[in-house]
Amino acid sequence: MNSIDKSSEWLALKRHWSEIEYRHMRELFAEDSARFDRMSLQACGILLDYSKNRATSETMGLLMDLAERADLAAWIRRMFSGERINNTEGRAVLHVALRSCSDEPVLLDGEDVMPQVRAVLAQMKDFSNAVRDGDWLGYTGYRITDVVNIGIGGSNLGPLMVAEALRHYQDPGLNVHFVSNVDATHLVETLKSLNPETTLFIVASKTFTTQETLANAKAARRWCIEALKDESAVARHFVAVSTNAAEVAAFGIDTGNMFGFWDWVGGRYSLWSAIGLPIALAIGMPNFMQLLQGAYDMDCHFRDSKLSENMPVIMGLLGVWYHNFGGVRTHAILPYDQYLRHLPAYLQQADMESNGKRVSRDGQQLSYTTGPVVWGAAGTDGQHAFYQLIHQGTQLVTSDFIASVHSHNELGDQHLKLMANFFAQTEALMKGRTEDEAMAELVNAGLAEEALAALLPHKVFPGNRPTNSLLLDRLTPQRLGSLIALYEHKIFVQGIVWQINSFDQWGVELGKQLAGVVLGELSEEADVGRHDASTNGLLAYFKQNRLRHS
Ligand code: F6P
Repeated sequence: MNSIDKSSEWLALKRHWSEIEYRHMRELFAEDSARFDRMSLQACGILLDYSKNRATSETMGLLMDLAERADLAAWIRRMFSGERINNTEGRAVLHVALRSCSDEPVLLDGEDVMPQVRAVLAQMKDFSNAVRDGDWLGYTGYRITDVVNIGIGGSNLGPLMVAEALRHYQDPGLNVHFVSNVDATHLVETLKSLNPETTLFIVASKTFTTQETLANAKAARRWCIEALKDESAVARHFVAVSTNAAEVAAFGIDTGNMFGFWDWVGGRYSLWSAIGLPIALAIGMPNFMQLLQGAYDMDCHFRDSKLSENMPVIMGLLGVWYHNFGGVRTHAILPYDQYLRHLPAYLQQADMESNGKRVSRDGQQLSYTTGPVVWGAAGTDGQHAFYQLIHQGTQLVTSDFIASVHSHNELGDQHLKLMANFFAQTEALMKGRTEDEAMAELVNAGLAEEALAALLPHKVFPGNRPTNSLLLDRLTPQRLGSLIALYEHKIFVQGIVWQINSFDQWGVELGKQLAGVVLGELSEEADVGRHDASTNGLLAYFKQNRLRHS
């Protein structure tokens, strides 16, 4: 594979960055009154304004050339047509099939996967209706009041984020909880307020071999049996979501209470599958179907729009622009919506586990960087925490600002206050405050000359900080589905340009293997000493102190 950074398209962008680097967005806006019109677009009820970027029409043209060089359009077709583009695991990447609302078949090795997808959706519908309507009762005959999802990574972050984002649509009679950490505190603190007779556990694990999930599931099983005094209670209080029926049965969950999915669904792309069962329980299956509909809308937009009018393509390429040509290493996700407060953590996994790769699809070491550090927090909380660095720090941070025109909670003028901050921040980040403006303000405040001179440099904001603004009409299940799919496809676009496999995660495996080895050494009698001096020292200290204080 020819390395993309040797292509003429890449080199053209490199030259172009050196031309545009010091151009201020203030100038770009002053020169072009139609900039917003040209650099914004709407799809699936989402407005994307990307005009507050260090980019011109020429930049966008050069980025589209790069996408063509990377053969992006063909790769999009490959994904949608079920090719095994996850080459290191020999798997297709078909999360788009999970939300297909079309009658068209989705073929994998010549076989339509849609009948299986629909069968699991029907099973989820029956089960979630039964629990929500009180037809599915606990072992002692009580209605289920609490659902605890036990899972980690993609088997936790997606359902957690969506359940919280759509809390407005939740049934108040059914509380959904999420336990992921192998730190027992997570489970113990969650169970403290729950009644075993009315609690249902979902053990969610694609592989059903994940240490954290199994440890928590076993502890939950003990808690259930100890309280209900009968092993057979498990059948009414535990269901599983997995691709691994054998391990589910070995764990002691009746496979009749299992919801399946398939190896062509990546963990971090799985909330649309039965991994979304806690979402369906929380908001009901009709709302879950709306979520799928929204994702399908974005899939169609991504698959069918030309690259230059394609929202995930534009966002993905702008990310490449800053990362590879502007040296920007981190990207902030800033939802001005309390319901979306878990979105940064969700996208952190989606993006960093997908694109944190150092070799190309064919195993060549890359000569350019991939995968920004993704982080963030809900506005306005973030403003009072880390925005200082974004405004005046020495490194350039790019950000996505996300909000809705209408709030589910229009309390007084609080939504207007929230949105005033949203608009003011992106404007301030773009414009900054020049020395003259800062000076005028200090003069107005009546500062003496000496104090003014001392304070002036601190009051200057360079501006020219790039942001995307995303405006939804309202945070509905459908809009949320579109928003999540937008980011999934953005990540795909970047992975294709970077020539990597965005769908494996070998980097997570090493830690898992080593933890298994170390666990065996933590017992009193086991020897320690086959590690480096630091790890040996830490292990010895830990074991001595456990003994001393036990
Ligand atoms: O964190 C690594 C990972 O493999 C993720 O990709 C996955 O979402 C998570 O572990 C959980 O895996 P499983 O669903 O198999 O328990």
